[in-house]
Amino acid sequence: STRIFQRTVSIGTCQSGESQTAEAGGIGEVCTAVSYRRRGLANVLLKDAIKIMQDDLSVSLSLLHADSSFFPVYEKQGYSCTLSRWSTVNLNVRSLFQSATLSSKFCIRDAQFPNDTEQLQALHKAYSEDQFVGCIVRSKEYWNSYLSKELDGTFFVLVDSASNDRVLAWISLRFKNGKYIVRDFGADFNGEEVTSVSSFVWLLKYALSKFFTGNESVIPDDDTATLQLPTVLCDALNINCECGIDWSDSAPADDSGWMWRKIANGEEPGYIDMNELAKQMPHLIWPADSF
Ligand SMILES: CC(C)(COP(=O)(O)OP(=O)(O)OC[C@H]1O[C@@H](n2cnc3c(N)ncnc32)[C@H](O)[C@@H]1OP(=O)(O)O)[C@@H](O)C(=O)NCCC(=O)NCCS
Repeated sequence: STRIFQRTVSIGTCQSGESQTAEAGGIGEVCTAVSYRRRGLANVLLKDAIKIMQDDLSVSLSLLHADSSFFPVYEKQGYSCTLSRWSTVNLNVRSLFQSATLSSKFCIRDAQFPNDTEQLQALHKAYSEDQFVGCIVRSKEYWNSYLSKELDGTFFVLVDSASNDRVLAWISLRFKNGKYIVRDFGADFNGEEVTSVSSFVWLLKYALSKFFTGNESVIPDDDTATLQLPTVLCDALNINCECGIDWSDSAPADDSGWMWRKIANGEEPGYIDMNELAKQMPHLIWPADSF
């Protein structure tokens, strides 16, 4: 099997500062039955998918995420890697829980769909789509029908307590291969009430508590943990905030698994060179968006 997911992705900002988008075909669910492997079946399906994208879908490029052991499968079909920069930092869990007390002006709750959708959509555009290349443009429908289910139970929003309604930031965290991975994050750039460092630290503590005692006021026994987050976020938050995160000792954990291929030709108006664009703005697709 091979499946094409139609997505709109961000491709940077033009000279006037307007953010631009492109239509993309995301390749997923590539699989050949074990006893039929290495007979060229994936080759045939991927060629077909590329032809469909070229002839029937108005897409400029195709994107996919693969483990490095499968790169040859896709390189054969003209895909190449685009690096997303990620970092790991050491986290002292006890210090985080002891220090990051949420101001009474704010509270944290589960995201509510569709009530929060409009705000999340606008904030995600400003925080991610306008800042990163390759980022998935999230429609209301995508938030409501995909992300709300995909992130269910792990998606928390920081709101102001007075209204319990105005979203200022959000986080989703997952635990994989011994690391806590920031699966999704965003904050209100124009929010005067709270800095993105404070909102990140409060949300991180809240999301982490779900992996420990389930109660953020109970300090866990664990001393250390590893946190994985996009390097741009790591750089932006790299402030000595006494919150148990050792920002000064970050290590690279880049994701080279994103691959892209042009679909529109060089002469056509829709032609896009992802590697050139990624030199101007960081390439980032949040793990929440994987297809
Ligand atoms: C990846 C997968 C779909 C390949 O399917 P396939 O039908 O065996 O692939 P093909 O026979 O068409 O191979 C095409 C080319 O890809 C490369 N290739 C295929 N399988 C490979 C593997 N396991 N490792 C490295 N390269 C591989 C080879 O270059 C091959 O060409 P060659 O046979 O002329 O050398 C199959 O191994 C699979 O289903 N894996 C498990 C599911 C999975 O992990 N899918 C997600 C991949 S991101």
